Amino acid sequence: MASYLQIADDEKGHELDLFCVPRHYENDLEKVIIPHGLIMDRTERLARDIIQDMGGHHIVALCVLKGGYKFFADLLDYIKALNQNSDKSVPLTVDFIRVKSYCNDKSTSSVQVMGEDELSSLAGKVSPVMFDIVETGRTMQTLLSLLSECKPKMVKVVSLLVKRTPKSSGYRPDYIGFEVPDAFLVGYALDYNEYFRDLSHICILNEQAKEKYKV
Ligand code: IMP
Ligand code: MG
Repeated sequence: MASYLQIADDEKGHELDLFCVPRHYENDLEKVIIPHGLIMDRTERLARDIIQDMGGHHIVALCVLKGGYKFFADLLDYIKALNQNSDKSVPLTVDFIRVKSYCNDKSTSSVQVMGEDELSSLAGKVSPVMFDIVETGRTMQTLLSLLSECKPKMVKVVSLLVKRTPKSSGYRPDYIGFEVPDAFLVGYALDYNEYFRDLSHICILNEQAKEKYKV
């Protein structure tokens, strides 16, 4: 079982005015729940765990866009640092895929996948798949069945966040950054209808903002 840092349901978080938050989002957020520095520290450790387990082979790091782009970039920087500062190193290449399953703050029943026809680079390789947040688990389960058609040697899912929710299908990623309460979270590339990707900290969105940015 993957270990993770648990953010409790009664976690009070941090007042917004203790951190730098873009002015245009100041009235939209409830509180900071995971500050950027803590995300980075946890990501550094995930990089070490991944290299320990998968570091014997050519790695194709797969970024699941759009929500996974910050996590992917930062995790890769830590993996690169390990690779260039130790006696053993492995070739590392990157690839990208895009999925869309959300509208407003609700998961839709359809999971759209874009770019999967170009994933032949995964054949015979080991691939950590870097993802933003697992809620029901449906997006990742759909993606995994598509990836298996590319015949990779090994696929491991690395999710920055897993939500504790009764909607979960029971699916758990191989590596988890944080387990979080059942609230709608934004920031560090997680969005609400494309807004809030430009926020460094992971924050809880307030009800007023859900109305303001609704489509
Ligand atoms: P699942 O298929 O229900 O596991 O949903 C996973 C996808 O839903 C993620 O890739 C996100 O795009 C989106 N999602 C789920 N919960 C949140 C959230 O709290 N904030 C932002 N996006 C979320
Ligand atoms: Mg989204």
